[in-house]
Amino acid sequence: MASFILLFLLAVTGGAASQSNDSTEPTCDDWGESSAGKVSVLDGEAGSIHCALFSHPSVYNYTSAQSAGQNLFWYRLLDGHSLEQPIPNSSRFSKDRERLWLQPAVANDTGQYICMLSNKSSCSKIAMRLKVLRRDEAVRSAPCEPAVAVPPTQALIAMQMGQVLDCPDLQDAARMSESEPTVSWSFVSAENSKCYRYPFWDTDREQRGTRLRFYNMLIPYQGQYFCTVRYQRRGRLLNFTRSINVSAIYPTTVSKLPTILHPTPHKVFSVRTNSDVHLVCRGLLPLVLRNSSREIWWTVDGKRVDQLNNPRFTQKNSNMKYNFGDVTEDSVLMIEDFQSEDLKREFNCSVRNAEGFLTRRAQLKEEVSLPSLELGCGLGVTLVLMLLLFVVYHVFWLELLLLYRSWFGTDERHTDDKEFDVYISYARNSEEEQFVLSTLRSVLENVLGYSVCIFDRDSLPGGTITDETLSFVARSRRLLVVVSPGYASQGSQALLELKAGIDSMALGGHLRVILVQYKPVQRQSLVRELRRARVALALVRWQGDKSKELTSRFWKRLRVELPVRKVCRDEEGGSKEVALMRLSSQNSTNSQTGLISNTTKKPQNIFNSAS
Ligand SMILES: *[C@@H]1O[C@H](CO)[C@@H](O)[C@H](O)[C@H]1NC(C)=O
Ligand SMILES: *[C@@H]1O[C@H](CO)[C@@H](O)[C@H](O)[C@H]1NC(C)=O
Ligand SMILES: *[C@@H]1O[C@H](CO)[C@@H](O)[C@H](O)[C@H]1NC(C)=O
Ligand SMILES: *[C@@H]1O[C@H](CO)[C@@H](O)[C@H](O)[C@H]1NC(C)=O
Ligand SMILES: *[C@@H]1O[C@H](CO)[C@@H](O)[C@H](O)[C@H]1NC(C)=O
Ligand SMILES: *[C@@H]1O[C@H](CO)[C@@H](O)[C@H](O)[C@H]1NC(C)=O
Ligand SMILES: *[C@@H]1O[C@H](CO)[C@@H](O)[C@H](O)[C@H]1NC(C)=O
Ligand SMILES: *[C@@H]1O[C@H](CO)[C@@H](O)[C@H](O)[C@H]1NC(C)=O
Ligand SMILES: *[C@@H]1O[C@H](CO)[C@@H](O)[C@H](O)[C@H]1NC(C)=O
Repeated sequence: MASFILLFLLAVTGGAASQSNDSTEPTCDDWGESSAGKVSVLDGEAGSIHCALFSHPSVYNYTSAQSAGQNLFWYRLLDGHSLEQPIPNSSRFSKDRERLWLQPAVANDTGQYICMLSNKSSCSKIAMRLKVLRRDEAVRSAPCEPAVAVPPTQALIAMQMGQVLDCPDLQDAARMSESEPTVSWSFVSAENSKCYRYPFWDTDREQRGTRLRFYNMLIPYQGQYFCTVRYQRRGRLLNFTRSINVSAIYPTTVSKLPTILHPTPHKVFSVRTNSDVHLVCRGLLPLVLRNSSREIWWTVDGKRVDQLNNPRFTQKNSNMKYNFGDVTEDSVLMIEDFQSEDLKREFNCSVRNAEGFLTRRAQLKEEVSLPSLELGCGLGVTLVLMLLLFVVYHVFWLELLLLYRSWFGTDERHTDDKEFDVYISYARNSEEEQFVLSTLRSVLENVLGYSVCIFDRDSLPGGTITDETLSFVARSRRLLVVVSPGYASQGSQALLELKAGIDSMALGGHLRVILVQYKPVQRQSLVRELRRARVALALVRWQGDKSKELTSRFWKRLRVELPVRKVCRDEEGGSKEVALMRLSSQNSTNSQTGLISNTTKKPQNIFNSAS
């Protein structure tokens, strides 16, 4: 024994495998420190270290090692020490098969523990880390939980079924104990994280001896179960606590066959060629207790994706939901740059657990490429067109209106027996008089071909003014009122005309009143009748020089208000301007003598007279 230790001290220099060359002693295979992670024990509790060599039963098997005459030896390298030491010959330490027990562990036991299996011709060793935790260092999920150093074991219990829970490591304690160990149970509910000590006050869970027996598993019984084992050894009272994570699973009566939730048998995937395609398969994989292995995967022409050796195909799995043992899992087959020959391939999604197997072929259909782009373009074009129409309408609405009227408007001359198209009413002896006689009248009569009535010109001397005015107004289709501040002063001819017009309009006589504004006027400077009329009637504004041309807004608006009259073709274009200029110069001479010289009863119309 002592020679072994000495050999050890000489041979071990670190983690790497080292070999001693001694003719009498075997070489030793050093596996370094176990990757299984450190072992934790609570300070003051009993705990054990398992020799990690035997975690690989195919290589090392304790039973067969014993029969091969191999012995297991333990050493340790404590934290803060530089030399490996034999385990002290103390009642605190005991070997139990492949385990070393510390009964109990104390704080300065923390360090590296090495187990060595050897006989005369062979030797293997491995190191494990032991950490002795203070009680407050132990991880707890609920403050009322007892401190536990060892990770929980898992237990799955089918709902409405019975099961027995044994405290882990109890059998070891029972072997070493000089009397029957006792076990006390407690429970931390998964639902509310509350702690309960046994008894749990229900008839479904009962402690029988050291075991906790479930007669009828229910969802509220899920949670963390804690068992504290107390036993006696060599006059010492020892204890340790272990935990078990208990989860409910679906009863065994529920079908455990795996199913494919998606694609359904009639589902057709539309795929687009020359783009990446993702096929999603979702499976429900129930847990089978006797063999919990379960899987969902894609095959392409009967081969798994990893057997294909084709980088265009990849598979990605993800767990969706864990529900009482059953798992809903997605498997996505990603196909890069889908080609039309891929349509001929057989894409199958398969699910398997210990109870069964199911496979389903994904049906693929090439997507008709009408969609979004063309649709979007069409919509865009429509929108642009609408916008264009909107703009065109807003800019050219007068022209459009005139065009419409020239095509579809009815000539009022055919439907009434009126004599005049326009009766012009204006303030006499005002600025507007000049405008009325030289511009308005001549364009209306000579260019646009309307029959115009101007009272002073067209009335016969000698008649009653009132009767004559009413008669003229009644015989006109439109009453054109040239609005001005002086218009319709009390008792004037203009006021009479305005009243006649408004009355006729109100009575439904076929007369419409149009307001023309030669110069901007203040509302307050107008007579009451005019102010009212302005609110309800169309007002056409003369805009100085801008309005001189026949193509201007003023004339267009006026024509819209006036009866429909087809204009001679030669009016259109540049000749209009010439005509207007010619007329205005002609009429400016007229205007001096207009009232007197031009007294023919019938309105003058150059078009009529020309024909
Ligand atoms: C170990 O001893 C053997 C003979 O038993 C010898 O052949 C070998 O070279 C030695 N190895 C070393 C590292 O000394
Ligand atoms: C170890 O070997 C014995 C017999 O050699 C065998 O019965 C036992 O099952 C083995 N143990 C393991 C864990 O493989
Ligand atoms: C260990 O101590 C016990 C007494 O406590 C003694 O009988 C035994 O021989 C000792 N073993 C060694 C290897 O010192
Ligand atoms: C560990 O600590 C105990 C006291 O708690 C002491 O008796 C013992 O000698 C110490 N052992 C080592 C190896 O330091
Ligand atoms: C030592 O153990 C090995 C198995 O690891 C075995 O093959 C060999 O026969 C044993 N040697 C002796 C001397 O028992
Ligand atoms: C276990 O034993 C230690 C040392 O005797 C003691 O401090 C501790 O309270 C005991 N734990 C339980 C749960 O009985
Ligand atoms: C207990 O197990 C369930 C499922 O098996 C898991 O979700 C939960 O996190 C576990 N709880 C602990 C404390 O390990
Ligand atoms: C568990 O079932 C799977 C099939 O789902 C099978 O391949 C495996 O060998 C089974 N394992 C055991 C231990 O029966
Ligand atoms: C693919 O699934 C279909 C059923 O949808 C099945 O008939 C076919 O045999 C499966 N192919 C493979 C290779 O498993």
